Amino acid sequence: MDQAKKGTWQIVNLNSKGDARGELVAINGSIDIPFAIKRIYYMTSTLTDVVRGLHAHKQLEQVLIAVKGSVSIKVTDGFKEEVIRLDNHVTGLKICNLVWREIYDFSPDCVVLTLASEVYNENDYIRDFSDFMQFATKVNI
Ligand code: TYD
Repeated sequence: MDQAKKGTWQIVNLNSKGDARGELVAINGSIDIPFAIKRIYYMTSTLTDVVRGLHAHKQLEQVLIAVKGSVSIKVTDGFKEEVIRLDNHVTGLKICNLVWREIYDFSPDCVVLTLASEVYNENDYIRDFSDFMQFATKVNI
């Protein structure tokens, strides 16, 4: 377990079309992010001591954006681990399949927008960390 999988998560820089009136950020599926968007959801009013996520996906790809406030996301592919602090509305975190994520330290005003490559499917979730490690290790052999 000394080599990380490539491309399991990346920062995605978005363009603001802001002007004197304020900010506007447009995200075109398959152009500004590398997949077609089939679902969006957002988290708001999250209590500061809450940890969300705590799962991986078998197939799903997602981009998370703190469109307001800030939040920390710990990701691991079973080989390497990283903590990313999202704190602005033009930086997204793309998370590929088979990446365990923990989302925490929400600022009180935080709104996290998520763009997803598929509609909701509970069968795509891996919610047990040791199951995830088995999946991740098998895929990497
Ligand atoms: P949950 O999986 O607990 O969210 P998180 O992983 O971010 O902590 O989801 C909370 C509830 O919302 C749960 O009943 C499933 C439902 N849900 C949907 O119906 N559609 C969705 O796109 C998502 C992400 C969750």
